[in-house]
Amino acid sequence: MTDLAQLELDLIQAIGQTATTTEVEALRVQALGKTGTISGLLKGMGAMSPEERREKGPMINGLRDRVGAALAAKKAELEAAELDARLLAERIDLTLPAPPRRRGSVHPTMQVMDEMIALFAEMGFAVAEGPDIEDDFHNFTALNFPPKHPAREMHDTFFLKPDPETGERKVLRTHTSPVQIRAMRAGEKAPAPWIASGQEPPIRIIAPGRTFRKDSDATHTPMFHQIEGLVIDRDIHMGHLKGTLEAFVARFFEMDQVDARFRPHHFPFTEPSAEMDIRCDRSGGRLRLNEGEDWMEILGCGMVHPKVLIACGLDPDEWQGFAFGMGVDRLAMLKYGIPDLRPMFDADTRWLAHYGFSAFAAPNLATGLS
Ligand code: PHE
Repeated sequence: MTDLAQLELDLIQAIGQTATTTEVEALRVQALGKTGTISGLLKGMGAMSPEERREKGPMINGLRDRVGAALAAKKAELEAAELDARLLAERIDLTLPAPPRRRGSVHPTMQVMDEMIALFAEMGFAVAEGPDIEDDFHNFTALNFPPKHPAREMHDTFFLKPDPETGERKVLRTHTSPVQIRAMRAGEKAPAPWIASGQEPPIRIIAPGRTFRKDSDATHTPMFHQIEGLVIDRDIHMGHLKGTLEAFVARFFEMDQVDARFRPHHFPFTEPSAEMDIRCDRSGGRLRLNEGEDWMEILGCGMVHPKVLIACGLDPDEWQGFAFGMGVDRLAMLKYGIPDLRPMFDADTRWLAHYGFSAFAAPNLATGLS
């Protein structure tokens, strides 16, 4: 038997005995690598005489091809076996019950918004929406904020970069009151299908949404939520405002009645204006409504200012109305005993697991609000 035949036999046998792809690779390097045995033979052909090369060349090349093919075949076989073994080891038994996992839950702010919407819907209010990025006209001017008046800065407004062409400076809306304007300006085209377009009175809407102010401490976050209310009709007066809000607050806190007082205040867009306080006892880290001598402010309200009606094309001698705006997150904290405002928007799933609501507990008046 020639040396070549012996070498081939040895190699094929060794290949046959490999058990892993790593061993196959080691053999490949040993035979066909840069300094491998077969590579050495191939290199040696350069020094052969033409006759010898004619005789040995095909033998060496054949040896290389056969050993190469055997290595590749063995490698493929072992890879397939290794994959089978891995698939077997990693097999998932789909009949096993799934391990308990954190499910999503409804944020208290959204839960409370839904509660409020359910309540006001029953009182005949429709839901209207406006854009988060608002123009100066809707956020300030039409609401009777005088031009260049510090009141615009008073809201700790986030201003956007001025438009290079028009110089217009949009704002992140500082309150939901601009939706009042959008709801009242009949004929004004809404910039998007979901945005309130103006309607003829009578109008009865609430406008829930996000609002923004440059403010951050234990009781303020730069983004927060408000619900606006607006009623426009004939012969509307403060009594309607008071009755609506007192009924709302009692039902929201699920009590027969909540002690409330209306304290004179100032807003440019209402006259007269008031803040509504509810009586409570906050001692001992708990909130008890209708007890103690503390009064807590929960919303701003008032009769729609005649100048606002005029800015919306309504005749103040024919139409009157009231408006109110309240902080949804604050009311959620009060109702559900959430002590700190800031973690509400940290997106920490542990906080949500604790304070969140089941998605199946959608508030409605038939089965109860909370
Ligand atoms: N927009 C006022 C605020 O954010 C609240 C308000 C709304 C007051 C409607 C009166 C009428 O403080």
